[in-house]
Amino acid sequence: MLTNLHQQPADALLALIKLHNADPRADKIDLGVGVYRTGEGDTPVFGAIKAAERKLVEEQDSKAYLGPEGDMGFVEALMPYVFGKESPDMGGRIEGMQTPGGTGSLRIALAVAKRAGIRRVIVGVPSWPNHAQICADLGLDVVEFNHATQAGHTDMDALRGALANVVEGDAILLHGCCHNPTGIDYSHAEWDEIAQLLSQNKVLPILDLAYQGLGNGMEEDAYGLRRVLVAVPEALISYSCDKNFGLYRDRVGALYVMAAAGEDLPRMMSNAHSLARANWSQPPDHGAAAVRLILEDEGLTAQWLDELDQMRDRMRQVRATLAAAGKAGAVDLTAFGGQNGLFSIVPISKEQVLEMREKHGIYMAGSGRINVAGLTMGNIDKFVAAVAEVTA
Ligand code: LMR
Repeated sequence: MLTNLHQQPADALLALIKLHNADPRADKIDLGVGVYRTGEGDTPVFGAIKAAERKLVEEQDSKAYLGPEGDMGFVEALMPYVFGKESPDMGGRIEGMQTPGGTGSLRIALAVAKRAGIRRVIVGVPSWPNHAQICADLGLDVVEFNHATQAGHTDMDALRGALANVVEGDAILLHGCCHNPTGIDYSHAEWDEIAQLLSQNKVLPILDLAYQGLGNGMEEDAYGLRRVLVAVPEALISYSCDKNFGLYRDRVGALYVMAAAGEDLPRMMSNAHSLARANWSQPPDHGAAAVRLILEDEGLTAQWLDELDQMRDRMRQVRATLAAAGKAGAVDLTAFGGQNGLFSIVPISKEQVLEMREKHGIYMAGSGRINVAGLTMGNIDKFVAAVAEVTA
């Protein structure tokens, strides 16, 4: 029976981790998977997380099951950061649950949407490849529109066109900030328009917020999400702490459901809980418990926010250096300065991406996406020179 299975390709992005590790060149550069790196190329555990983990070891007196919703203290402590301190549950209309990372949250969000009658998911492309993969696995059709123009701006006409053609049973998946893979985010004025457009039609918004705090700040990066939520009756929100708390392999995320009427939330959440039970039963505790301990402690919260500021400042510095380099062969790097988060796209062909890897030991996604945090003051010149060479 099992011999009926067909070979599946390895995930192209995750495969880069192994390819890079196996490369013996000392000056290789990893610009592949999205993990933050310091100016020394390290991905250390946040100091605030280390402190919270020590506290957890000291204080945690049981590891008994918590239930499919996970650590609700964690889920609720995050809400003022995501939805705003004024009304973190939008007047009783938002409830959440813990999930294994942003991927677990998206999986449940899309499965709940499907149970509710969603058939198509509108996605701006390029997008994070796992979005389409989860939709395909759930049997949801993906309808694509262009996220960005050739000139490197958001393609609002394409978005308006996609929204003009929605039918009953459509959802739209939007990146809240730090667009993956382009780094090209909607401006405040554009979010205002998107919120207004969404308020006028029946499409279900699914907001993916996986990089809050890595773009322009915790509050700033929530602008679009909050604008949309005040304009629409209901929405699903997928959240990841993997980047902004540096908890990647611990898989820490949350799913929030916003209902038109708070009284409907128990029914909606019962679907999310039963789907979690069927998928992983209950989410892993450790990382989420550490985040909760940080958010319950003013000192640790300040330390975490300070560490996040330093990450953002470093990425801004890398972006400014790339922008100042101007042209690298046929590629204009100027726009990288104004983009947000870990990612930007170098507009080069798949063959040129391969040449970057084979000739220069520079690992980037096949789409030309780079993780700007992989660049340091010590390797950025090599990167710019390599782009110039492969595009000359
Ligand atoms: C990425 O896009 O590199 C990250 O979101 C990591 C992942 O799981 O793909």
